[in-house]
Amino acid sequence: MNLGLEGKRILVTAGAAGIGRVVARAFAAEGAKVLACDVDAKALADFARENQSVRTMIADVSDEASVDALFAEAQASLGGLDVLVNNAGIAGPTGPVETLALDDWNRTLTVNITGQFLCARRAVPLLRAAGGGSIVNLSSAAGRFGFPRRTPYSASKWAVVGFSKSLSIELGPDNIRVNAVLPGAVEGPRIQRVIADKAASLGIPHAEMEKRIVSKASLGRMVTAEDISNTILFICSDAGRNVSGQALAVDGDAQYLV
Ligand SMILES: NC(=O)c1ccc[n+]([C@@H]2O[C@H](COP(=O)([O-])OP(=O)(O)OC[C@H]3O[C@@H](n4cnc5c(N)ncnc54)[C@H](O)[C@@H]3O)[C@@H](O)[C@H]2O)c1
Repeated sequence: MNLGLEGKRILVTAGAAGIGRVVARAFAAEGAKVLACDVDAKALADFARENQSVRTMIADVSDEASVDALFAEAQASLGGLDVLVNNAGIAGPTGPVETLALDDWNRTLTVNITGQFLCARRAVPLLRAAGGGSIVNLSSAAGRFGFPRRTPYSASKWAVVGFSKSLSIELGPDNIRVNAVLPGAVEGPRIQRVIADKAASLGIPHAEMEKRIVSKASLGRMVTAEDISNTILFICSDAGRNVSGQALAVDGDAQYLV
């Protein structure tokens, strides 16, 4: 399948690690021009050393001035924009709601949903100038199921779906497609941290917590960052030209979250 991504101008937020890193690399492998940002300077420098065709910039999606500088850089170094992958997201606190601090609640919402708003509103004029394009917003299985003891994260990821669906209707006439992608448990260090926090919160062993999570997917396994990246590349390609307004789960058919 020809994805038609050669020469496309792509911005990936939080591209230094995890899913974002795999997505940025995959677009570059298709011949796209990629700019990846992150708050972690060291991880970003490592990534830049390994992927010299990808442009990188330190930027915090939750900070308005930082996002403005990021889009000025996208304009200058990519010459415009065809795709925004709003990938940055933090896990937020784990625990019963009455134990959560307001600062932790606010921080989770600010990075996970306000960050997507700040980036989308700067991306839209560039996508319009390009004659159309694609925005992909990372949600989560926690954006279609309840996620006990992770209420700020779940609330932020449901918000991503509402934001994406509303924006797709708003921007369809401009030939700009907007979709949310909802990963399940993705193999890697982040899910191991999530499992550790949840196991501690429930007072059960790590291995038992991991078994409970994996058993809730009918395919009985975690997904990989490559699975998420494949879906994102497809949606943003010519092959996905009529896919918009969707909340696409890539989670091994998760039934609910524990
Ligand atoms: N890993 C999973 O199991 C999983 C499951 C469902 C959804 N997701 C979602 O996928 C996205 C990527 O997750 P991941 O697992 O790759 O995360 P990760 O923790 O592996 O990497 C996240 C990256 O985001 C960067 N980052 C954090 N705050 C930032 C900010 N304010 N601005 C810019 N960069 C920032 C970090 O420095 C890090 O490099 C997130 O939105 C996450 O919620 C992940």
